[in-house]
Amino acid sequence: MTNNEPNFTLCSDSARTHVFVEPDALNYIGKWVSSLRTPPIVVIISDTTVAKLYGQRALASLATHCPKSELITVPPGDQSKSISHLDGIYAKLGKMRVPRDGMLLALGGGVVTDLTGFAAATWMRGIDYANCPTTLEADVDASLGGKTGINHASGKNMIGAFHHPRFVAVDPTCLKTLPARDVAAGLAESIKHALISDAAFLDWHEQNAPAIRAIDPKIMGELVTRNLRIKANVVEQDEKESGIRACLNFGHTIGHAVEKLSNYALRHGEAVAVGMVAAAHISMSKGMLDAPAVQRIQTMLQSFALPIKAENVNPAEVIEITLGDKKVKAGKRQWVLLDGIGQYTITDDVSDDVIEQAVNTVCAN
Ligand code: GLY
Repeated sequence: MTNNEPNFTLCSDSARTHVFVEPDALNYIGKWVSSLRTPPIVVIISDTTVAKLYGQRALASLATHCPKSELITVPPGDQSKSISHLDGIYAKLGKMRVPRDGMLLALGGGVVTDLTGFAAATWMRGIDYANCPTTLEADVDASLGGKTGINHASGKNMIGAFHHPRFVAVDPTCLKTLPARDVAAGLAESIKHALISDAAFLDWHEQNAPAIRAIDPKIMGELVTRNLRIKANVVEQDEKESGIRACLNFGHTIGHAVEKLSNYALRHGEAVAVGMVAAAHISMSKGMLDAPAVQRIQTMLQSFALPIKAENVNPAEVIEITLGDKKVKAGKRQWVLLDGIGQYTITDDVSDDVIEQAVNTVCAN
């Protein structure tokens, strides 16, 4: 039996989010909900694939501690982060008469955590929710920090709100059922966190590569905890991304562009891997990173089956899309670059030539 103590707690201006990383965490969510308070109803939101695997376990855990629990499912995939699926969720919450002190619980990957968080942010002007991520990308990134939202015809994540979960509960054993490509996509975000803030954590990825590839639950638990601590540390300093939180976008400027131009054939993490290679090349051109470090990054990404180039993507179109990036300030792109391994810098001082060269390097036509 586990105790009620979280591994750690994110404390920002508007949030306290307890983080639990523990094998079989799903069995304890009812206990963790009731250690906060006892909501009259807890509604799990999941996708149909994840609900089949873990829905009953989550409901059983809630049943022993909460008066009422329900499950709502959406189809798997990014198309569920839409106004129409959100509207479907509101309709069900209305039918269930979910009150102001009810609670939502996301069970799934980043699509489900973003969608559930936004439903919670807006239902009755904001109710509590918790995240139980089941993919590595969501374990190490999307589940913590309060970014919630849906997509719109004008762009991905265009409609959203900052609304922090009351807790995040990660069960690393869920990763055993995740396709290898999705595990790799999550590892890209883990490598990103190491590159921007923790050189020793990058060494750790190299030293523990065989256990990571084997999805050893103990090693994956440590990996998730270290990632979430890095992320919590950034969010605690800059909750609403008015400054340093932008460091978490390392690799995302060019990454988002190649993701879009691949028609989302690339996983988000795979596109970020390509974007990190481009950003590493830009950092090298500016004299902030040496060639062996760039090679080390590429070798590591490849060793975890991540791409370092985007196939069939037009470099000119990549550059065009980066101009429309959300991070453009006063017409200038903000670049998160590496100032050595484990340290980042944010600058708009990158010449068009340098960008073009880096984009050409990562685009294999
Ligand atoms: N995924 C980046 C952030 O949460 O800020």
